[in-house]
Amino acid sequence: MPFGPEFIVSTLCLCGDKPFNLKTKMEDTINRQLDEAAAFVEERISGKPEMAVVLGSGLGPLAELIKNPVRISYADIPHFAVSTVSGHAGELIYGDLNGRRIICMNGRVHYYEGYSFARITFPTKLFKRLGVKTLILTNAVGGINLDFAAGDLMIVTDHINMLGGNPLIGQNNDKLGPRFPDMSEVYSRRLQELARTTGKQMGLDLKSGVFVALSGPSYETPAEIRMLRMLGADAVGMSVVPEAIIANHMGLEILAISCVTNAAAGIEDQKLSHEDVKETAAQITERFTNLMSLIIEQI
Ligand code: HPA
Repeated sequence: MPFGPEFIVSTLCLCGDKPFNLKTKMEDTINRQLDEAAAFVEERISGKPEMAVVLGSGLGPLAELIKNPVRISYADIPHFAVSTVSGHAGELIYGDLNGRRIICMNGRVHYYEGYSFARITFPTKLFKRLGVKTLILTNAVGGINLDFAAGDLMIVTDHINMLGGNPLIGQNNDKLGPRFPDMSEVYSRRLQELARTTGKQMGLDLKSGVFVALSGPSYETPAEIRMLRMLGADAVGMSVVPEAIIANHMGLEILAISCVTNAAAGIEDQKLSHEDVKETAAQITERFTNLMSLIIEQI
């Protein structure tokens, strides 16, 4: 259900004359929901995850490498939103990958599905509660940079938020982070370097670049892509940024790897489709999976 209690509360905030009190209540509600979700997950796993990995469209096969997996369906976790998009499995998997204890989200929810930013970033806040220190985000993107080709992997160096909102709007939770968080190194330079070195060891030509997030669900027009290129964006997609803003606010170390599934609109004389996006993601599964598991081992 995209329109949860926080949607109703924020709608009331727009109508009432005491937005501050209502926002406080919303924060309390989310904290209570996080307590319930954390208790549910902790009952089912032993130990603490060191890092969390979010797998985007068609990038799920990495989850199959997890040893001794504990699988929890999103639908069973209290207050967890369930993805309505094909290619997003909707399962939390906890276990060992290359000797590291990880919690993996196989599939995510997006702003364009009608979920509020609070719902989209609920899992990120849950990971922090569970003890995670590092967050690895992945997604499928369209390549804006003319040097990129479908099948490339890109290390995200920075982002441009064009979603039309920010998940930190509302009363600040001072226990999690400051009101005005610094955003000058959202994507850890240390982890970018680790990914770059690992890519080189594997003989991969990893790209680096700036990711721009738009709400979707329509793909961009060729004119929008030309504009985004002028603004300094190398790749475009519909996810990652809400989770990255929230994780940065809470002080998590973040790495984001994007899979370029297509040339962005207007670059090639070809229409874009979600089926093609999933197919390209599937074609690079092996490369992506090997890279990710080597990075995870060394973090
Ligand atoms: N645009 C936006 N999101 C995407 C694209 C794209 O071209 N490809 C994969 N996700």
